Amino acid sequence: MNIVLIGYMGSGKSLIGSYLAKKMNYKFIDLDKYIEINEGCSISKIFDYSGDIYFRKIETKYLIKCLSENNNIVLSLGGGTPCYNDNLKYINSTNNSSIYLKNNNVELSKRLFKNNDNRPLISTIKSEKKMIEFVSKHLFEREVFYNKASITINCYKKDIYDICDLIISNLN
Ligand code: S3P
Repeated sequence: MNIVLIGYMGSGKSLIGSYLAKKMNYKFIDLDKYIEINEGCSISKIFDYSGDIYFRKIETKYLIKCLSENNNIVLSLGGGTPCYNDNLKYINSTNNSSIYLKNNNVELSKRLFKNNDNRPLISTIKSEKKMIEFVSKHLFEREVFYNKASITINCYKKDIYDICDLIISNLN
């Protein structure tokens, strides 16, 4: 079985994923890093040089490659991965547990405002107010997909240790 972490940008997928993997004795893979290693290029440069449609195409390709070639991994996705090309349908139809790391728009916006340089979708947003406006609308659109995960964990005001314990107890 593989565990697939989904959620909006800034929801802590990579940090929580690597801690969870250690705790469960699973291998950890971050899909964005996996794409960067395989393509020899950063996500920002892929967006810049080849555009978002190309990125979504290869994102699906590497998602399928990664899940079909591995077992007992914790895989953290990019924020948009579950929202394109029936990716979540694929994840849920194979031997994986999809877990939505839910948080609220204000908390996510605060985190993203401090750390948006390497995130092509939000790197040009220069005020916290604009960030909240963007994230609120975008999260609303994306939650339709995120809500299809097999397990939802409410992460608001919880630390990564509590979140991992909750994930493990939900998996059992
Ligand atoms: C994206 C999120 C990013 C990365 C890319 C697109 C998105 O991953 O895949 O910039 O569409 O939300 P993180 O969620 O790890 O920031």
